[in-house]
Amino acid sequence: MRRPFIAANWKMNTTVDEAVSLVNQMLQELNGFNSVDRVLCPPFISLQAVGNMLKRTEIGLGAQNMYFKEKGAFTGEVSPLMLKDLCGYVILGHSERRQYFAETDALINQKIKAALTAGLIPIFCIGESLEQNEAGKTGDVLSVQVKGGLAGVDADDGIVIAYEPIWAIGTGRAATGIKADSTIGFIRDTLGSIWGKDRADSTRILYGGSVTGANIEEFIKQPQIDGALVGGASLKAAEFVSIVRQTALVKS
Ligand code: PGA
Repeated sequence: MRRPFIAANWKMNTTVDEAVSLVNQMLQELNGFNSVDRVLCPPFISLQAVGNMLKRTEIGLGAQNMYFKEKGAFTGEVSPLMLKDLCGYVILGHSERRQYFAETDALINQKIKAALTAGLIPIFCIGESLEQNEAGKTGDVLSVQVKGGLAGVDADDGIVIAYEPIWAIGTGRAATGIKADSTIGFIRDTLGSIWGKDRADSTRILYGGSVTGANIEEFIKQPQIDGALVGGASLKAAEFVSIVRQTALVKS
């Protein structure tokens, strides 16, 4: 059995005060759904404040990025050692990092290994562009991203994977549940080819890209989809709670 998993990716939104206020609005209700792993990923500067608010709950906390070195002359970067005292998860390989900050599969692989060494659980994002999708290259692209990102990564590390087609992120144009399910099935088969079927079958794979309270059910009822990585809709307390509530209902 794979435990359902819903993560909130706030991206570069919220000041510390706004982050605290957003958590205040959702905390009590969110705390009631313990059958779902819930993880909030605010900007770095709010990790401490949000972490303090989550202390007496089972709600997890994650960062949105990280450098792979432990420390040193890397101005502006944040290390795994800094994060591990603050949170349990880190989003790595998000398409916005790949697109705007030129992150490659090789760099993401280094980050994933460094996160695991520090005891952080990576939420490893992969996904194809519209152009790649339309050219029928989705499978090839995902397979390269999975194999590149996970090269030398142990099957037992508990990593969570998020399939986020780039054309669906922030566009209001989500994939269909059926299409996302079959693509995630393909990703699971690819994992099986590197880790073996049992390990692939126990790895959680999320869908991400324009998930809302109105469409979460379509995704979460699919057998291959274990949860969602939610961007825009996670900035609205009631909507994010509704996504978690529906997940708890469908997956129970
Ligand atoms: P979105 O973003 O839900 O706003 O489409 C998802 C993501 O990029 O993680």
